[in-house]
Amino acid sequence: MSIAIILGTRPEIIKMSPVIRECEQKNLDHFILHTGQHYSYEMDRVFFEQLELPEARYNLDVGSGNHGEQTGKILAGIEKVLMQEMPDAVLVQGDTNTVLAGALAASKLHIRVGHVEAGLRSYDRRMPEETNRVLTDHCSDYLFAPTEMAREILLGEGIPADSIYFTGNTIVDAVRQNVELAAERSSILDELDVEAGRYFLATAHRQENVDDPARFTGILKGLESVAEEFGMPVIYPIHPRSQKRIREFGISTNNNIKLIDPVDFMSFLHLEKNAGLILTDSGGVQEECCILGVPCVTLRDNTERPETLEVGANVLAGSEPERIASCARGMMDRDRDWENPFGDGKAGERIRRVMTMGVEK
Ligand code: UD1
Ligand code: UDP
Repeated sequence: MSIAIILGTRPEIIKMSPVIRECEQKNLDHFILHTGQHYSYEMDRVFFEQLELPEARYNLDVGSGNHGEQTGKILAGIEKVLMQEMPDAVLVQGDTNTVLAGALAASKLHIRVGHVEAGLRSYDRRMPEETNRVLTDHCSDYLFAPTEMAREILLGEGIPADSIYFTGNTIVDAVRQNVELAAERSSILDELDVEAGRYFLATAHRQENVDDPARFTGILKGLESVAEEFGMPVIYPIHPRSQKRIREFGISTNNNIKLIDPVDFMSFLHLEKNAGLILTDSGGVQEECCILGVPCVTLRDNTERPETLEVGANVLAGSEPERIASCARGMMDRDRDWENPFGDGKAGERIRRVMTMGVEK
């Protein structure tokens, strides 16, 4: 029995790491197929090194490109490897182009597909990720729903109940496995010369935000006014897509926003844990805030993580500066005693068990 673990971007490496660890510990026959969608050291290798993950057996080195080109290259590359290896199953995680191409290639070869983090919906087709989520779920055989709501969504779309497994989200496993180590090892606060609780942390990289000059400018203005109002800097580890757009659009930011290169996972966890408040358009970061007990302002009009809104850990601010500032004000005063809706940190183990039993069925 063998499993191909397909991944290609920063969040997939982080969220698949608990599953990889499980496969390693239980000596399951598995290999990693990296598509190379992300390739810069700080978006890729740093996570393999820090999380001590085994080397990928294959790296397709597809790199960047338009959606059709990138997805097409990944599809063709994965098909070739799968035809050679013919694993019993593949695992994909999340909603990127790598995920859709991986699921599609395997499905056409009649190799069973497990989708980790199935059933998330923003109902916003402007997001390329929404198309990837829906299509991946509908060609998967094992749907690993992180929350009850995700399970209900899948049932509502006609996916058979016996294909859906409620596991919790592997990000809880990853946070628990690393947050204490992060506190011991990371010196990022000193390096950035900030004090715990006395800075904001921000990330923004969504295509529908940063590729749109008006939205991206609005978000940056919002961050500047939050920093000014509270007299605290905003630390913004900037995604390469956003860095590129800032240059292209000729946008400038004031000194209250500290743009830094993307950081490693432990440094980022440590920055999250000690932030006064986090402002983000990232899916994974919304979840991590909720798990770590740090309030979040989401720089989007909708979210496929509504559980974070329901427990009071998160609020949707969109991209207008005034609304971002008023949401930040509201969230700074918020009690931080909400429950974590993303599970108990054993999602990796549950997924490994289902894959083992399912494949033997
Ligand atoms: C991708 C995912 C998105 C996910 C994000 C995680 C899709 C459709 N999008 O978006 O869902 O939230 O990853 O971070 O799959 N670049 C580099 N180095 C890299 C990677 C990218 O410089 O290692 C630059 C390139 O200029 C590239 C741009 O970033 O054109 C965008 O990369 P791409 O993989 O197309 O999309 P992301 O925005 O990273
Ligand atoms: N992250 C990181 N360093 C950074 C920014 C983010 O390690 O500088 C981690 C973060 O902890 C989370 C993941 O990257 O686990 C989120 O990835 P991203 O925001 O790129 O993608 P999304 O979750 O939106 O798909």
